[in-house]
Amino acid sequence: MKDNFNYPYFNKNKLSAFEKSKCDVQKKLNNFSKYVPRQSIARFVTLFEIFKLQKNIKGSIVECGVHHGGSLMAFAKISSILEPYNFNRKIIGFDTFKGFLGLDKKDKMVVKKYPLIKKGLFSEDYSIYEEINSCVEEYDENRFLNHINKIELIKGDANKTIPLYLKKISICSSLYYLWILIFISQQAQR
Ligand SMILES: C[S@@+](CC[C@H](N)C(=O)[O-])C[C@H]1O[C@@H](n2cnc3c(N)ncnc32)[C@H](O)[C@@H]1O
Repeated sequence: MKDNFNYPYFNKNKLSAFEKSKCDVQKKLNNFSKYVPRQSIARFVTLFEIFKLQKNIKGSIVECGVHHGGSLMAFAKISSILEPYNFNRKIIGFDTFKGFLGLDKKDKMVVKKYPLIKKGLFSEDYSIYEEINSCVEEYDENRFLNHINKIELIKGDANKTIPLYLKKISICSSLYYLWILIFISQQAQR
């Protein structure tokens, strides 16, 4: 299912400078600050500041709800920039990669107010999981200690996958990891 969510700060009604530009894609990406709205940069800068807050704490970063992977990949790349030899820091993302699996009866009130919230919200008509994995491959080609995994994507219902994952790490490394749960509010991007 195609995700029809539109970021309010992108003008959908006219062709963007990015779309109009004849500039080569690589050059566009390298000069991304020309094209993205300030809100996108604010989002990235916020992630950078969050990362710095935990930089001196041993442990992994866990993102519950990865969606397109922008935050997950930002954390991974910032880790490779600020602590390129920290092979203990993992970036772990939990998601169905198929959007919402369903809604609870308790969510009825929210659904009334926001009809966009329904089963399948945040899914796409392509595999987000495969797309992020190909980004992870590119990321791995361009970092130190790339024989040691940095990013882990855990696919499935987090209600099930998180308890299973916690069981696994409690056997092999519970004393080692400090878990930092980062919930990034969409509000922070406004
Ligand atoms: C708001 S998006 C996450 C945004 C992301 N953190 C970011 O910074 O761009 C919410 C995500 O939660 C995922 N999700 C919802 N229910 C889930 C569940 N039960 N288990 C795993 N993932 C779930 C959805 O697939 C969706 O990708």
